[in-house]
Amino acid sequence: MTSVAPVRTGTGKAELPMVVRQLRWEAAGVVSVELSAADGRELPPWRPGAHLELVLPTGISRQYSLCGSPEDRSAYRIGVLRERNSRGGSEYVHAFLRPGQPVRVRGPLDNFGFGPARAYLFVAGGIGITPILPMVRDAERRGVPWQLVYGGRAAESMAFLGELRAYGDRVRLYPADRGGRIPLAEWLGAPRPGTEIYVCGPERLLAAVEEGAAHWGPGAVHAERFKARAKPARPNTEIEVVCARSDRTVTVPADRSVLSALEEEGLPVTGSCREGICGTCETRVIEGVPDHRDDILSGEDRTSGKVMYPCVSRALGTRLVLDV
Ligand code: FES
Repeated sequence: MTSVAPVRTGTGKAELPMVVRQLRWEAAGVVSVELSAADGRELPPWRPGAHLELVLPTGISRQYSLCGSPEDRSAYRIGVLRERNSRGGSEYVHAFLRPGQPVRVRGPLDNFGFGPARAYLFVAGGIGITPILPMVRDAERRGVPWQLVYGGRAAESMAFLGELRAYGDRVRLYPADRGGRIPLAEWLGAPRPGTEIYVCGPERLLAAVEEGAAHWGPGAVHAERFKARAKPARPNTEIEVVCARSDRTVTVPADRSVLSALEEEGLPVTGSCREGICGTCETRVIEGVPDHRDDILSGEDRTSGKVMYPCVSRALGTRLVLDV
C-alpha cells in the first residue's frame, strides 16, 4: 500500500482528507475518535507523543494527541474530553462528529519528542493519558522498564482503564474522589539515574512534577502542555525578518507576533494554538538568535537555535533570517 499524499493547503501546511471511522465512549465525558483516509489508503507514520490538528467546519482548529497504535496505519485515534468551558472544539466533536463524516486534518505533528531512555516514569492527569498511552505501549514493546501513575477526578472519568488493566501493577491509579491524589513526593523523592519522566495533564500537575523532580537533573522531565505556562512579560521591540525562500523582508512591529506579521504579508506560514504549545508554526532559523518564548523546546534545542515558534518567539537581536 502507498501512503496518502498530503494535500498542500493555501497556508502551506499538509492537510489530509479523512473520514470518521468509529466513535467510542472511553469514560464519562471522553470519546475516542478513529479517523481513516478518505480514500482508504495507508496513513503517514507517527511516533508516540504526536498529535493531529482537526480543522472543524466551524472554522476553528484544535490539536489532539494520537492515542492509538503507530503500527496501525489504517486509522488514527484521538481521545477528546468534553470540556465544561469548551471554546467550540470538544463540543463540536462530541455533539456533531459521527461515523462516515468527512474531517479535515493536519499532521501528525511531533513535538513531545518521545526519546530513548533506560527506564520511564509516566505521569498522566485526566485526559493527559492520551499521549502517554502510545508511549507505554512503545516502552513495553521495546522491553524498557516503565511505570505509569495516572490520576483523575473520578475513576469513571479516567479513560482507557480497560486497555491499561493488562499491565497490572505497573499502572497505579489515583482517582481523587476516592482520596487518591498522586503522591508525587513518594514517586519523585529519590531520583532514579537513567529514568526519564514524561508527564501530561493539567498545568498544576505539570508544575508540581517539574518542581518535585528538579533534583533529578536537567532533561529528566518532559512535559506536554495543553496551555501555555504563565511567564513574566518581556518587552517587545521591532525586528526585521528576512524570509529567505520567499525573498521578502518584513518589519515586525513590537505589538505584533512574527507569525501574524508574516501572515498579513501573505507569506506561507500557519499557526494553530498561537501560544507556543502545539508546534504547528515551527520554522527553521537560518540566521539570527531567536528569543524563545514557547513551551515546546528543551534546553538543548533552545540553545541550538535551529528552529523557533514565531507565534510567540521573537529575536534577541534586531534581525532574523527564516526558512519561509
Ligand atoms: S501556533 Fe502553536 S506553537 Fe505556534
